[in-house]
Amino acid sequence: LIQKVLRKDKSLELNISIVFNGDGLLFRITLLLSGGATMLCLRWRIMGTGPPAFTEVDNPASFADSLFVRAINYNYYYSLNAWLLLCPWWLCFDWSMGCIPLIKSVSDWRIIALAALWFCLIALICQALCSQDSHKRRILTLGLGFLIIPFLPASNLFFRVGFVVAERVIYLPSIGYCMLLTYGFSLLSKQTKKKKMLAATVLGILLINVLRCVIRSNQWRSEEQLFRSALSVCPLNAKVHYNVGKNLADKGNQTAAIKYYREAVRLNPKYVHAMNNLGNILKERNELQEAEGLLSLAVQIQPDFAAAWMNLGIVQNSLRRFEEAEQSYWTAIKHRKKYPDCYYNLGRLYADLNRHIDALNAWRNATVLKPEHSLAWNNMIILLDNTGNLAQAEAVGREALELIPNDHSLMFSLANVLGKSQKYKESEALFLKAIKANPNAASYHGNLAVLYHRWGNLDLAKKHYEVSLKLDPAAPGTKENYSLLKRKLEQLQKKGDA
Ligand SMILES: *[C@@H]1O[C@H](CO)[C@@H](O)[C@H](O)[C@H]1NC(C)=O
Ligand SMILES: *[C@@H]1O[C@H](CO)[C@@H](O)[C@H](O)[C@H]1NC(C)=O
Repeated sequence: LIQKVLRKDKSLELNISIVFNGDGLLFRITLLLSGGATMLCLRWRIMGTGPPAFTEVDNPASFADSLFVRAINYNYYYSLNAWLLLCPWWLCFDWSMGCIPLIKSVSDWRIIALAALWFCLIALICQALCSQDSHKRRILTLGLGFLIIPFLPASNLFFRVGFVVAERVIYLPSIGYCMLLTYGFSLLSKQTKKKKMLAATVLGILLINVLRCVIRSNQWRSEEQLFRSALSVCPLNAKVHYNVGKNLADKGNQTAAIKYYREAVRLNPKYVHAMNNLGNILKERNELQEAEGLLSLAVQIQPDFAAAWMNLGIVQNSLRRFEEAEQSYWTAIKHRKKYPDCYYNLGRLYADLNRHIDALNAWRNATVLKPEHSLAWNNMIILLDNTGNLAQAEAVGREALELIPNDHSLMFSLANVLGKSQKYKESEALFLKAIKANPNAASYHGNLAVLYHRWGNLDLAKKHYEVSLKLDPAAPGTKENYSLLKRKLEQLQKKGDA
């Protein structure tokens, strides 16, 4: 086996030297060193000198006060890793949070796993060091080396890592594991007489593992399956419930999402992201009291959580507690400088309070930060229009359409303004363009009809009133205007008859 491995290594080296036309050992070492240095540099550029800051939920054991608890739990994690190599049945995208409860006393039965792990490891290490057979010593040493050394950075021994168990960190150690396993089988097959049975067993195990691989690969195909598959492996992990909930919410299934978010918050009462999302959904379903409770708790736990501050502001705004809402919006903006949506909501609050200049400024800020913020543009145009500043409304509308030329709601708003300013021709063109982009909006047809009505183009007005009423028979005002128009048409007809 060793020789085979070495030969493989040779051919690899050959490939490299062909590709790079290199010069043996020196070249390889230079390549490795410069590659390593580049990676270190990149890491430094991206993350600076400090280690990343992990929180207790990422790796609960490393935050335990007692050395004993830490050591026991680290060792328990190692035995879990070893078990996953042996039997990859429990696979999960995330093992953090409450997935693996801490072992806090020796009476916990999971201690047995530690004993089993160390028994096997010590036995293997003894064989690797003291066996008579030098061939065996070399294979075992190489196998154990491949198994243990790549795992050391993930072992929490040198620094805190940001995970509990992670399948990705056992990719490399699995090389050593495979070597040890094949060597074990070769020893067994030398000793046993039932060679066929052994071969059948090995093939059976291989087949089961291939099947497992197929099943797992399929679970990775979609977020939904991946998250759901974790529910049975890590039912205590709040992050799993959060992700299942988020996935459901993204698909529009709010009722089910609420259930999972609630479970996530129950499992981890400090889970601010789950609280924020849950609060958001409850807000949309108009369960404002509970939403406010959750969002206030979230910002109490994490005072710089900008999104939660903004959502809290929206809820307070809906509860008509305007001063608190304004405070919340400004706090959100303090913690996230570039927050166009928050400026947008702030503008809506000011508009509700009839503070028109402030509202316009806030929406202007939103569009400075995000020029394609169509809602903010629209609100500016509508507010200016409603307050009689037609010239300004027109200017803003043109500015907006320059930035987002294909937005039909902007065309519609500007067309309304132009119609009021008696620029009928241009208004008509814009209405028609907006209708072409979004043919099923009753208000688009209705307002175009009003334009024709005023312009004196009564037949076209009639036609578009009719389309509008067909799309939305209950639209207020349209019916009245339509009957006005019909009466006028009848009068005209009578006049013509007379
Ligand atoms: C708009 O942004 C400016 C500059 O960031 C800021 O001073 C001002 O208070 C903001 N106004 C509103 C109403 O959002
Ligand atoms: C009805 O017509 C009047 C004047 O023509 C117009 O101001 C109003 O917006 C119209 N209402 C609707 C709902 O179209």
